[in-house]
Amino acid sequence: MTEPKKLFVKTYGCQMNVYDSERMVSALGGQGYVETDTPDDADMILLNTCHIREKAAEKIYSQLGQYRPLKNKKPDLKIGVAGCVAQAEGEEIIKRQPMVDLVVGPQAYHRLPEMEAKVGSGELLVDTEFPIEDKFDHLPKTGGRGPKARRAPSAFLTVQEGCDKFCHFCVVPYTRGAEVSRPVSQIIAEAEDLVSRGVVEINLLGQNVNAYHGEHGGKEWGLAQLIHELAKIDELKRIRFTTSHPNDMSEDLIAAHGECEKLMPYLHLPVQAGSDKILKAMNRKHTAAEYLDLIERIRQARPDIALSGDFIVGFPGESEEDFQDTLELCRQVRYGQAFSFKYSPRPGTPAAERADVDEAEKSDRLARLQALLSEHQMDFQKSMVGKTLPVLLEKPGRMDGQMIGKSEFLHAVHMDADPSLVGTIVQAKILHSERNSLAAEIVG
Ligand code: SAH
Ligand code: SF4
Ligand code: F3S
Repeated sequence: MTEPKKLFVKTYGCQMNVYDSERMVSALGGQGYVETDTPDDADMILLNTCHIREKAAEKIYSQLGQYRPLKNKKPDLKIGVAGCVAQAEGEEIIKRQPMVDLVVGPQAYHRLPEMEAKVGSGELLVDTEFPIEDKFDHLPKTGGRGPKARRAPSAFLTVQEGCDKFCHFCVVPYTRGAEVSRPVSQIIAEAEDLVSRGVVEINLLGQNVNAYHGEHGGKEWGLAQLIHELAKIDELKRIRFTTSHPNDMSEDLIAAHGECEKLMPYLHLPVQAGSDKILKAMNRKHTAAEYLDLIERIRQARPDIALSGDFIVGFPGESEEDFQDTLELCRQVRYGQAFSFKYSPRPGTPAAERADVDEAEKSDRLARLQALLSEHQMDFQKSMVGKTLPVLLEKPGRMDGQMIGKSEFLHAVHMDADPSLVGTIVQAKILHSERNSLAAEIVG
């Protein structure tokens, strides 16, 4: 038997890249590769990249530079760039960094094995086509090498990809293409496979996941119908989905939060800004009041739901007054957790043409917003202290004898527990709140 070749994958960006990386590892398994966790002994290095902000994209070039000595030492080391930078910059990547052997966009991963085989042939290996056929039909399932390799208890499952919203700051519609939903039967089959490998929690992924409209028996199903169907899988205990757009939060999906016990009380619902003027300039197509009304209806369906969001500060034209509207919206919603970013102009997007807000001003606004968001996060975490919560144990913690898991509200919770409990849901009494996690003890 020949020695397996080693593949090192480094993943940047969103959860869909995490999911895609797993698929690429499986696909290259057919070429005799097994995954390794260090670039040092790799025969192939694959960077799965993110283009969402300038910093994210620039990181890739500095990372590639760091692999230079490895390539010098082992000239037949193959280096590939995948993901959204690959899609956005294509051939440019090889021009800027000639040691890159192949560039493959997110819609062409099914052609990765074929491309890998051609490295060294002298052919320019750049594939950023959007195929007519469904890439999912041609990619092996995630799940490792063996026919029934065990999986971690929580898994991602892509149900929808791409976006038709064209928010004026965002590259995703260009890097991931138009919205495409996978058929229901394919998703159910993948979910059943995951469950048979020990998965108990599935996080349904899509750039615009609540716009899901997959085919089922000649009809179209929405995300709520899909969730109800998945909930019928006995061994599947928890369902989540991310990321949603406020305008696609249909009535049946709101209701599902009250009806479906397996659907976790956590919703990531980015709003980006609290000023109507800025929301309009961003092309978000709703007002702050409409968003707040939506939040209220969601809380009627599931009063204890934890809300999460994304914010951009310093979007072109954002005044101090507009920024105050964002703070006010946060005070009204009180997010359990939220992500916030300084606006980063992205080439090719409409907002990149507009006058940028002063950098120091952006930093100042980001600091003020993050202080408020973290105050709300701390309040929410502290409100858990003394309560007993179901926690899905996922992996060993940092300390000896410790395990770490997730609450229904997506808190990281650590406690002393036996490693054999991985994949089980335990009742945990919350002892105290830390910066980004909760400390607990198992009860009962
Ligand atoms: N709906 C998508 C959003 C992807 S981008 C999803 O599936 O998650 C994640 C977040 O990055 C966005 O919600 C937005 O807050 C932020 N973002 C996107 N483009 C940005 C830009 N040009 N500058 C700063 N932040 C940006
Ligand atoms: Fe980007 Fe807007 Fe689409 Fe989200 S909804 S991926 S922010 S264009
Ligand atoms: Fe980044 Fe692409 Fe995801 S730009 S956030 S990796 S869709």
